[in-house]
Amino acid sequence: MTRQLHLGGFLIASPVTHSHAAWRHPGSETDYFSADHYHRVGRILERGTFDFAFLADLLAAPVRFGGDQSEPFRRGTQAAATIDPSLVAASIAAVTTRLGIAVTKSTTYFHPYEVARVFGSLDHLSRGRIAWNIVTSLSQAEAQNFGFDEHVEHDQRYKLAEEFVSTAVKLWSSWDVDAVTADKESGVWADPSKIHPIDHVGDHYRSRGPLNQPRSPQHRPVLIQAGSSDTGKNFAARWAEAIFEIDPTPEGRKAYYDDVKSRASNFGRNPDHVKIFPSFIPFIGETESIAREKQAFHNELADPISGLITLSVHTDHDFSQYDLDAPVEDITVSGTQGLFDVARRLSQRDSLTLRDIGKLYAQGVLLPQFVGTAADIADQIEESFNGGEADGFIVSSAQTPGTFNEFVDYVVPELRRRGLFRTEYEGTTLREHLGLGDPQEDLPADFRDAELRLGA
Ligand SMILES: Cc1cc2nc3c(=O)[nH]c(=O)nc-3n(C[C@H](O)[C@H](O)[C@H](O)COP(=O)(O)O)c2cc1C
Repeated sequence: MTRQLHLGGFLIASPVTHSHAAWRHPGSETDYFSADHYHRVGRILERGTFDFAFLADLLAAPVRFGGDQSEPFRRGTQAAATIDPSLVAASIAAVTTRLGIAVTKSTTYFHPYEVARVFGSLDHLSRGRIAWNIVTSLSQAEAQNFGFDEHVEHDQRYKLAEEFVSTAVKLWSSWDVDAVTADKESGVWADPSKIHPIDHVGDHYRSRGPLNQPRSPQHRPVLIQAGSSDTGKNFAARWAEAIFEIDPTPEGRKAYYDDVKSRASNFGRNPDHVKIFPSFIPFIGETESIAREKQAFHNELADPISGLITLSVHTDHDFSQYDLDAPVEDITVSGTQGLFDVARRLSQRDSLTLRDIGKLYAQGVLLPQFVGTAADIADQIEESFNGGEADGFIVSSAQTPGTFNEFVDYVVPELRRRGLFRTEYEGTTLREHLGLGDPQEDLPADFRDAELRLGA
């Protein structure tokens, strides 16, 4: 059988997505703070047998660019207004039955017990359709919202994340699979010998456990990450079962794919169980020229300053201090280093100014745009997939839910016709959709051997 690809649909529970033009697009719905909006999107993605909806998140309104919060609010940039993705996920789960839902949650400002409990709950409520997008947070503004003056330093954030995730995984494994008997006759609800404290005492966290929740349908959420720096890629290769990547160039995507797969093998993991998802924005037309018109119309609505406001958030660096008409400077940033490297590489390769990068950032945070008829777009997906760049793709919208409707109505049938994508869901859990292995086996070998109670 032809190797099949996976699909995720990118959302932020907010007016914008990667595209900062999304809220201004005449085709976009405006009820992005209502449950109905996310129900509609969830149902569309499920109609298209997508593996999952992906909900990104940030924990602060943007204040980095020029130290000014008025422009981000005036322009409606990314993170200016966002509702909590775990609650949106619960809401989507209530009106869908197969669609997976990935929720972003930071390891820097919460406690592992709290996060383990929320994601265990979501996995129960959705009957095994939840993923956790593990992020380390990006900006000083987020630190200040949680009572700190400064953001934790980049590599230190990943040290916290390592202990955070291992503690959460231990909590999710603290009940043996068969601990609950619920025997009405004898009056025994659970076998206490099958429920274990974890007694975690680490450098940063302590948790006694057990989790006050039985083992969830997937044993734990599917773990997703988006590490793009060297440290970030190691973290992703250790823990992630799916990885979200942004790179507009085929050579960059291929290099990332090979690099992360080999890092995963080095951690004693099966690289086939680490699925890599680059992202793109599709513009679909009945003819290529109609698609190009749609693209041009959308891109015209994206302004460079909005893009630079978000670049400043993502990198935690104030880009208002530089000449807009000069190339992107060679600086070190404390936020997302890998994504900034992509911006710098692009600026050098194509002689782009900071203003150009701002425009690209506003159009879609450096995501490539796939443009053309449904067959053209399927060609681009197929080429990238067969070229060893991806196991799947995260589709990001230029207008919501219009982009998803068009993709599901026109591109999905084309992918199915080519045998590249499922025609129906075969399993019920997200882990099954993604073709992942045994949840214990998919962990890094050193952790598996030393730390994990293999409760039946
Ligand atoms: C494609 C991509 C998507 C990301 N999505 C989020 C997000 O939704 N929320 C967040 O706080 N950080 C997000 N991040 C930040 C990363 O998870 C990570 O914390 C940050 O990039 C710093 O690590 P790095 O330098 O290894 O990239 C994203 C990063 C990338 C590359």
